[in-house]
Amino acid sequence: MLTSALYAQTIPTWSENIACILYTRCTSCHNPLGIAPFSLVDYANASGAAAGIYDAVINNRMPPWPPDPTYRSFAHEKNLTPQEKQLIIDWVSNGTPLGNPGNAPVPPVYTNSEVIQNPDLTVRMPVYTIPPISSDLYRCFAIPSNTTIDQFITGVEVVPGNRQVVHHVLVFQDTANTTLILDSLDPAPGYNGFGGVGSNSAKLVGIWVPGAEPVFQPLGMGLSIPAGSTIIFQVHYPVGSSFQQDSTKVNFEMTPVPTTREVTVAPILNHGAQLTNGPLFIPADSTRTFYSQLTTPFNLTLLSVAPHMHLIGRSIKSWAVTLLNDTIPFIDIPEWNFMWQGNYQFRQPLKIPALSSFHGEAFYDNTVNNPLNPSIPPQDVSQEKPPPMK
Ligand code: HEC
Repeated sequence: MLTSALYAQTIPTWSENIACILYTRCTSCHNPLGIAPFSLVDYANASGAAAGIYDAVINNRMPPWPPDPTYRSFAHEKNLTPQEKQLIIDWVSNGTPLGNPGNAPVPPVYTNSEVIQNPDLTVRMPVYTIPPISSDLYRCFAIPSNTTIDQFITGVEVVPGNRQVVHHVLVFQDTANTTLILDSLDPAPGYNGFGGVGSNSAKLVGIWVPGAEPVFQPLGMGLSIPAGSTIIFQVHYPVGSSFQQDSTKVNFEMTPVPTTREVTVAPILNHGAQLTNGPLFIPADSTRTFYSQLTTPFNLTLLSVAPHMHLIGRSIKSWAVTLLNDTIPFIDIPEWNFMWQGNYQFRQPLKIPALSSFHGEAFYDNTVNNPLNPSIPPQDVSQEKPPPMK
């Protein structure tokens, strides 16, 4: 009796310990409708995938959560705690015991139902059939919003049309008509675009990556959307999506209240003028670390942080230092992965006092050791001459 009681306590089982972890950390993507290639919703699926789960978890590949949680912990974090990781490892090492199915949590149900039920604006791209592709496709779609008054966006929900192929979506707003022209020049819906959407005045208003929840601004805050704005989606379809169809849409919650505090998305630290050891130039077969710095003349409130690099970026970090020499950590991504970029929301808004300095540090690897290097043999990379889109 004693032995079996001890056994029950020390060896994790699916019903008592593991299902709950998989349901909170994995099944938002690993469900029959999700982006991941297989479901982890029931015991048979999870135990059948045990060897892969063990390998992905022990090597920190899954769940994809690139920020170092010891540098800063974010809202809606998806990473496993050390205890959860150990439970999964012990469960697989002990032959994936089921435990008492009566104790298993109720499995989550995944549907395509939407969170913003009565959107103030819905913008849907036309049905697009992905052409035969041998490399990843970044396709932009420009759609008139037809709004007639100036408003603020308080909530954004991206509803991928085809979750099997939509890898990420950037949502922009623009008052110029450049993107509408670009869209009309290509006979198929949309136009190709990797770095940006082809308009300098386009402003980012939303980012969606698999597993992401809709984003709502804190009460009384919103992103400006002038009357008649164009909405642009930039959608990433990975290689292997040929001939699939997609019609992604975005639901917006908006308010016309003029006292709304305006939220902006701004590249306050970037690879341009603020580089302290620029210009950005990474010769073929070399690695380089670049530093950027900027002093804010006014008080700022930060809501989220979204590091961005392309394929030869390997790690990125940013923080602020106040006049009193306090360091405020923002984010540290020790192993950058272009496939898993995101907008990371702070647990509460961060107040940064005037005259604090912002710092960024980015490491680039333009050698053959970088498995994502799009040029083999490597080519010189500079701001004027970005690497090819692959
Ligand atoms: C944000 C979405 C997402 C979450 C959350 C997620 N996965 Fe995945 N997973 C994917 C995608 C997409 C793939 C296939 C592409 C790839 O391998 O990167 C994948 C592949 C895998 C693979 C096979 C490939 C490999 O790298 O080993 C395993 C095993 C796996 N996931 C396990 C898990 C487990 C266990 C969890 C939770 C602890 C989890 N995943 C959470 C999206 C996700």
